[in-house]
Amino acid sequence: MKLILYIGLIIAACHAHPRQERRFPDDFLFGTATAAYQIEGGYNVDGKTDNIWDHMTHTKPHVIKDMSNGDIAANSYYNYKRDVEMMRELGIDAYRFSFSWSRILPNPLAPYNVNQAGIDFYNNYINEMLKYNITPMATLYHWDLPQKLQDLGGFLNPLFPEWFEDYARVVYENFGDRVKLFITFNEPREICFEGYGSSTKAPILNVTDVGTYLCAKYLLLGHAKAYYAYVNDFKPTQQGQCGITISSNWFGPLTDSEEDQFAAELKRQAEWGLYADPIFSEEGGFPKELSDVVARKSLDMGYKESRMPEFTDEERQLIQGSADFFGVNHYTASLISATEYKTFYPVPSLYADIDVGIYRPPEWLDSASDWLKFAPNSVYNALTFLHNKYPNTEFYITENGWSNYPDAGLIDDDRSTYYRAALNSVLDALEAGVNIKGYMAWSLMDNFEWMEGYVERFGLYEVDFTSEAKTRTPRKSAFVYKEIVRSRVIDPDYEPENLTMWIDEGH
Ligand code: NOJ
Repeated sequence: MKLILYIGLIIAACHAHPRQERRFPDDFLFGTATAAYQIEGGYNVDGKTDNIWDHMTHTKPHVIKDMSNGDIAANSYYNYKRDVEMMRELGIDAYRFSFSWSRILPNPLAPYNVNQAGIDFYNNYINEMLKYNITPMATLYHWDLPQKLQDLGGFLNPLFPEWFEDYARVVYENFGDRVKLFITFNEPREICFEGYGSSTKAPILNVTDVGTYLCAKYLLLGHAKAYYAYVNDFKPTQQGQCGITISSNWFGPLTDSEEDQFAAELKRQAEWGLYADPIFSEEGGFPKELSDVVARKSLDMGYKESRMPEFTDEERQLIQGSADFFGVNHYTASLISATEYKTFYPVPSLYADIDVGIYRPPEWLDSASDWLKFAPNSVYNALTFLHNKYPNTEFYITENGWSNYPDAGLIDDDRSTYYRAALNSVLDALEAGVNIKGYMAWSLMDNFEWMEGYVERFGLYEVDFTSEAKTRTPRKSAFVYKEIVRSRVIDPDYEPENLTMWIDEGH
């Protein structure tokens, strides 16, 4: 009898503290993320000038799936107090947002001519967050290059690093007393490969042979210059950190064959290594296997030299080690084959250079975005790989999330399931010793999803874009995320009682 009682007590105790060991650390930063062009609107007010998305959506509206643009978007330029209220409703610790370069510097070649209205807007936003103890994490560049700089060649102009450093200094000077987490660039791959090496992001240059590689070089130099501007002239007094965010989806081999393993490695180098190795690897410079392939194919095709530019020793050393943390944007995975599932790519181009096939098993659930499938353990696979490749690196997951369609409504169980699985995978990576400091869900609210316009929705909050107020309403996943943030535990059975948000004043 005693024994039964004893066993019963043990079972009850275990039940009262389910998965007690699977807790997120108390100092783990939970947040959400957005970007200026995707939410702000106010595209031509108070002195702001055009950026490449304003320019492209106005001059070539047909390239956007629903012919829309970010002119108004979620109107956060005017709704920022409601945004912060939503952060408080969720009880999050941090918020990742980005600065609009051309709102701060309407003439980006005149960095001493700062637009006070732009500075005021970001001051108000940041101060409103700080009032409620929400840590701002600020991205300097989330794809909205001032159009004037694009007219001069943008990332392909060797002056780009200097332009970026000038802008970065203005940002540190004005906001670094309160912002302690800076990210120079969001997703170099999407900037360089999609914007310059193909035509799936502004400025849709489609210079397939050299666009990606040249852009990568000047982006990395701009990053390093902005990093050292911070380290030398601001960090000593401001005491913050400066890193970079790189999209790091998982690419594993389709089979265990040596060919497939090499193909997967080449794919990883093409997708992230190109931007991460020069900063985080022990050797510095662009990844070796990818450089070799591009050099060989360039010479075979009659180019004078490799289409992948070299760094001087001085440049290589400047870039190497130029980050206090690695921001990871992670969403999905693919399996890579050396021989199967190949598709046509323009020749020459980054994808033709690596010449590998991509497979995504049909049982991986589809989101509304064709690139985003629900892939098991992908956070763990990517993060443990990065941790082993770049030991002693501090990571933040700066984006992770799931898309559905505009008519999906507020009951988004698919998104909750995705977040729970991804966060369990984060816990697995933490347990494996990966130093992950925080997690930002993409996104706080629905927003302008680039070439997909408003057709794909990533928000924890739904935005009614037809309403004047751009009304925000929490989806069910917002309540699920809120409970994880509050309890630091993932309860697979948690069901919100009703879908009404409140602010926990204790937070
Ligand atoms: C990455 C980008 O940084 C963000 O702007 C975009 O909306 C999400 N992924 C979803 O595609």
